[in-house]
Amino acid sequence: MKLYSNPASPFARKVIVGFSEVNAIDDVEVINVIGNPVDSGDIPITENPLGKLPTLVDTPFGTLYDSRVITRFIDHHYDGGLYPSSTLFETLKMEALADGIMDAAVLMTYEKRVRSEDKQSEVWMDGQWIKINRSLDALESKGKEFLNSSFNIAHIALGSALDYLDFRHSDRAWRSGHPKLNEWSEVISHRPSMIATKPA
Ligand code: BEZ
Repeated sequence: MKLYSNPASPFARKVIVGFSEVNAIDDVEVINVIGNPVDSGDIPITENPLGKLPTLVDTPFGTLYDSRVITRFIDHHYDGGLYPSSTLFETLKMEALADGIMDAAVLMTYEKRVRSEDKQSEVWMDGQWIKINRSLDALESKGKEFLNSSFNIAHIALGSALDYLDFRHSDRAWRSGHPKLNEWSEVISHRPSMIATKPA
């Protein structure tokens, strides 16, 4: 299988960490490509007409996208235990929350990168940050059970999302005001799968 990826993409990272955590990273060749919302660049649009990452080709089910579909595939194909049946809907919800943090954070990155400075909207960027901060507040105050639950896909997604905030939006200093999440992210960052994929 071939995974079209980018080392900065938190969604692609989530998938690579998923493969690593089920000990299947050797089954996938990672191909780094570059694209953005207004130029698909070298992302293979014949495989994914959306021109988005990650895209996984040559699976037994053909080409698969997006990250949530691919991680469900990994779990199914390798019987990975990434989506525990006893907490399935909680896991799916928390994965969606972490993916939403990534979405908002990536949109902020592209606002700064793709639009000329005079067209960038502070209101719009702040609106994305409000979504992120509200989600972090919710995890900080009500997420104890989830954060301490047995390792699953939502933990991979959240770890990838938090590292992306450090990577691209360190000026927003998400760690101050979220001490429990800060501590949790330090612990998860020591997993070999997370160390191997840390964006730099
Ligand atoms: C980034 O450079 O931040 C980025 C690259 C690919 C996908 C998402 C984000």
